[in-house]
Amino acid sequence: MTRVFALLCCGAVLAACNPFTGPQAGRALYDQNCASCHGSDGRGGAHVPDLTGLAARHDGRYPQLLVLNKLDGYARGDVVYSGVEMPEFGHLLTGRLTRVQTDRGLSRPLPEKLIALDAYLQRIQR
Ligand code: HEC
Repeated sequence: MTRVFALLCCGAVLAACNPFTGPQAGRALYDQNCASCHGSDGRGGAHVPDLTGLAARHDGRYPQLLVLNKLDGYARGDVVYSGVEMPEFGHLLTGRLTRVQTDRGLSRPLPEKLIALDAYLQRIQR
């Protein structure tokens, strides 16, 4: 029975079964790398966007691709708030890759640290 449940669980949400890619791991990474600017509650500040309002600012849909591109540096230079630019986080791209299904139905191999941060950010949407 336990095995059946484990199989079902892993089949349904592969990333959620991996302790390195879940929101808890993401929270730890967030505290280490992001909280100094975006705030420990993710609500940002004068020149730093509120990360709990990402979905609200995109018609109620969490903009996963925007977040992933922001974090992997692909969207570097796409500054949404004037003044300060988001720093690069090359070290988040190191380590193991895991294949995930993105919200656009694409299957992409992504660094586990990015997947974890993305999972955490999805969870804190208002
Ligand atoms: C040095 C301050 C700083 C740190 C540290 C920082 N950010 Fe940012 N972040 C910004 C600023 C400023 C912006 C807005 C300018 C821009 O888009 O580059 C931003 C933008 C973003 C955006 C895009 C928001 C939008 O509405 O388009 C996301 C997502 C984001 N940050 C996530 C993170 C995550 C996750 C981390 C930790 C890995 C992090 N940031 C660390 C300053 C920071």
